[in-house]
Amino acid sequence: MATVLAFDVYGTLIDTHGVVTELENRLTGDDRAAQAQEFSRRWRDKQLEYSFRRSVMGAWADFSECTQAALEFTDRVLQTGLSEGDKDHLMMAYDSLPAFEEVSTALERFHEAGLTCVAFSNGSRKAVEGLLQHAGVLERFDDVISVEEVKRFKPDPAVYAYLRSRLEVAPGDTWLISSNAFDVIGARHAGLHAAWVRRSLEAPFDPWGIEPDMTVTGLDDLADQLA
Ligand code: 2OP
Repeated sequence: MATVLAFDVYGTLIDTHGVVTELENRLTGDDRAAQAQEFSRRWRDKQLEYSFRRSVMGAWADFSECTQAALEFTDRVLQTGLSEGDKDHLMMAYDSLPAFEEVSTALERFHEAGLTCVAFSNGSRKAVEGLLQHAGVLERFDDVISVEEVKRFKPDPAVYAYLRSRLEVAPGDTWLISSNAFDVIGARHAGLHAAWVRRSLEAPFDPWGIEPDMTVTGLDDLADQLA
């Protein structure tokens, strides 16, 4: 197998803030647009925090449990008073989040260039397949690899070792593609190549002294460089 591109899912292929409209319809404050943006950002940050904490504690649970508990916490901290029905609806919306607009075309270009593409996520295989199917891009992937097999979350080195074992290619032939800086640093730390998808020009990279091999503005930019 030649070079493999392992794509992070939430935040890289799939827009985790695709729930903002659903949130706006359910919030009741004066500035619902701003409230929905803040809720969405805090929900995502807390979801990741819960995954990090669970990994450190050795208390793995399906990623959807991190998402569910983070939704509950965000509702409490912002005192938004969402009903149980609202929360159920938002969790369902999370299962059909949209892909970023350039994803489908870029994946087609990687496919045409003969590059092997896999999805690699904290999400369960079932959840990720559902998302990619809904976005109409599942068939562009040669495999879907979930951390559920190792019961650790990114950036635990065990998950990158598992990715490598599944791909059976040299570390230097594996590229992690992610918009999440912690994922890029985790992959580089584990000896993989990594490209950072800097979806917002305001997004700074963590100053850890571990840099991405490549920084791109989106998957179309990545395709310009690799495909
Ligand atoms: C993913 O693994 C980190 O949420 C991100 O898909």
